Amino acid sequence: MQNRHERFRFKSSEELLEKVKELGLSLPFSEDTNILLTPVFTNNRKIFNRFVVQPMEGYDSEPDGSPSELTWRRYLRYASGGSGIIWFEAVAVMHEGRSNPRQLMLNKNNKEIFKRLIENMREKTPLNIQPFIVAQLTHSGRYSKPDGIPLPLVPCHNSLLDRGNETILTDNELAKIMDKFIESALMAYEAGFDAVDIKACHGYLIHELLFSFNRKNSIYGGPEHEKRFRFLLETIDRIRQAKPEIQITTRLNLSDLYPGGFGTTADGRDYELSESLMLTGELEKRGITIINTTMGSPYFNPHVVRPFDNPLPGVKPPEEHPLTGVIRMIEGTGIIQHKYPNLKVIGSAYSWLRQYSLNVGAGVIKEGMATFIGFGRNSFAYPHMPLDLMTKGKVDPKKFCITCSGCTRLTKSMRPGGCVIHDREIYGAELKKLIADGK
Ligand SMILES: Cc1cc2nc3c(=O)[nH]c(=O)nc-3n(C[C@H](O)[C@H](O)[C@H](O)COP(=O)(O)O)c2cc1C
Ligand code: SF4
Repeated sequence: MQNRHERFRFKSSEELLEKVKELGLSLPFSEDTNILLTPVFTNNRKIFNRFVVQPMEGYDSEPDGSPSELTWRRYLRYASGGSGIIWFEAVAVMHEGRSNPRQLMLNKNNKEIFKRLIENMREKTPLNIQPFIVAQLTHSGRYSKPDGIPLPLVPCHNSLLDRGNETILTDNELAKIMDKFIESALMAYEAGFDAVDIKACHGYLIHELLFSFNRKNSIYGGPEHEKRFRFLLETIDRIRQAKPEIQITTRLNLSDLYPGGFGTTADGRDYELSESLMLTGELEKRGITIINTTMGSPYFNPHVVRPFDNPLPGVKPPEEHPLTGVIRMIEGTGIIQHKYPNLKVIGSAYSWLRQYSLNVGAGVIKEGMATFIGFGRNSFAYPHMPLDLMTKGKVDPKKFCITCSGCTRLTKSMRPGGCVIHDREIYGAELKKLIADGK
């Protein structure tokens, strides 16, 4: 019963570490957090500190996929917050692959707008930090909803995930989607992004190809891992050929934590990273120097992706303590980082730890379990946390994300996403409208 869901209620780091012990787990921890402010050098580029703004869809683009005023505001907040890496949210490579009608989409008509946003972000960055800015390129596959109604495009049927209206993509259609990734990568480079992420996580198309065991008569799926890895690796190879200067990275699901998923034991209860390690090796062979790790699916097991205090209204709390999820992600990432010490690996799911995320992040880096520490929801809530640490030598515990799931509630209802607690004027008001609409 110790591993039951609980809200964060620790008044000191001692209490937190006591709970970790009670759960029979261990958590890296360092009182000294200075390592978070040390630079990392990769591909002749200095990354100023170990903080990463993780990608988070804001559901607030203009209808044509361009950044809106709200998108612009979010990214200027991140830029002025002092993180060394700012990882743009999922940006669709084509309309059919958008997860919602307000998902960002990069195309030749709006490339200049993205370029101005990137320039503006660089102007707003404090202390002469030059953030490393990544474009996360995506096709939403099974979760495509380009016009607000589901248009699930999948590599093969999956008895656990199917809802009955899936269309299976042919090899020919997949090849055309790959062309769109190449075009978008070139445009992202021209728009001034430092790197492109070929997104392979959270159940979207390229991730689903990695476990498309049931795909028949195809070069992009089936029992053999070479076929299932092929789409991702071929996309990377083709971008390299088209423009060797483009730095490429990927956000990779190390494990899905459901039966039949990628990097998961047969019963779906634990990670089994042999294929994740093999794939990471292939990425390293292709000159990839940074990878951003994650696990789970926001649609199937959201507590794995983002451990929380409060589930969405009407949803039962998960059957595990949030610390179990936090530590699972840290340990899985650590396995990858230990096996590939030259790769710069970004860890995820630190927001639940509030202010102790800094001590845990510093401990993780010191133990060689990751190179960078990523913040998703806490970047909505407290984007200036890195800057406070740099300029004041301390952070404000009252400003941290409280993992209430308010931002997720907004985006699940296709409203603009942000922090309903700490950015209340805009997003608290959005939540009020949502509640008034009876949702
Ligand atoms: C509203 C919302 C939108 C998200 N959108 C994306 C996305 O576009 N791409 C992605 O890779 N992850 C996305 N994520 C996952 C986060 O990047 C991150 O992995 C997750 O929130 C766990 O980190 P945290 O505990 O610091 O929040 C999203 C999360 C939230 C809450
Ligand atoms: S609404 Fe704010 S406090 Fe709540 S989970 Fe999102 S970022 Fe955190």
